[in-house]
Amino acid sequence: MADLSGKVAIVTGGASGIGFAIVQRLLKEDVKVAVADLNNEKLKELEKANKGNLIGCVTNVTKESDIEQLVNKTVQTFGRLDYAFNVAGASRAGAIVEQSEEDWDFTVDLCLKGVFFSVKHEAKYMKEHGGGSIVNVASLNAHVPMFYGAAYSSAKAGVEMLTKNAALELAQHNIRVNAILPGLVATPLTSSLTNVEAINEAYMERIPMRRAGEADEMAGPALFLVSDDASYVNGASLIVDGAWAVSGYPDLSKFM
Ligand SMILES: NC(=O)c1ccc[n+]([C@@H]2O[C@H](COP(=O)([O-])OP(=O)(O)OC[C@H]3O[C@@H](n4cnc5c(N)ncnc54)[C@H](O)[C@@H]3O)[C@@H](O)[C@H]2O)c1
Repeated sequence: MADLSGKVAIVTGGASGIGFAIVQRLLKEDVKVAVADLNNEKLKELEKANKGNLIGCVTNVTKESDIEQLVNKTVQTFGRLDYAFNVAGASRAGAIVEQSEEDWDFTVDLCLKGVFFSVKHEAKYMKEHGGGSIVNVASLNAHVPMFYGAAYSSAKAGVEMLTKNAALELAQHNIRVNAILPGLVATPLTSSLTNVEAINEAYMERIPMRRAGEADEMAGPALFLVSDDASYVNGASLIVDGAWAVSGYPDLSKFM
């Protein structure tokens, strides 16, 4: 893959799961990283283990002032900002006829508004400093609805469209913006579901590769998208799902 060494990146939601895997890959590629997360304890641990190469920034992505501070601190510490990975996300599930406004707002604010604030301030800096590259983590749920996931799926569809809008507006400033749409990935976010055997089996029936993806299997595609190997990829959605998205048809092979 194209050389990333010497670059500087922000990773929101970098204290766990997919974000954490992206952080580890970036460090391996000699990229300096600002990790933004609510989990202060994990951030301190990461900072201690990677002195000089990583800073932890306690950040709530739903607060615009936190994101402004994050970008400022990154640039003050490392002198530049080349890449951003907007990964932070979670959801409060609920049936449409029962979901509270509070739970809807929690999910949509975190998954969609948080990405908007992130892209806004990352791109503001990049625009004035020669460009950069941004990857937003949406979800296969941007295309495929799920029970009790109206808020989450709607927000993720929004992230995909926000990514396209950002690519359209920012291309003139040498900023590329792409999205990753993960399927099922083994992280703390999904373990409460996949640890239940019957639920896990229901997932596996749908996933042609018959397994969840590993967080590190999201990091490779994400790093590819920011790298110069993807220099003409802009406004794209990369589905990374073990072929789940193409599995709607019944398995007729059993009858042939
Ligand atoms: N795991 C999956 O199967 C899967 C599938 C599709 C999409 N995704 C998306 O990938 C992203 C990462 O998911 P994950 O599975 O790694 O989850 P995770 O729970 O392991 O990690 C999410 C991280 O985001 C942080 N976070 C939560 N709220 C925050 C806030 N307001 N501000 C800053 N940080 C905050 C958490 O502290 C945590 O460290 C999410 O956007 C999720 O929707 C995950």
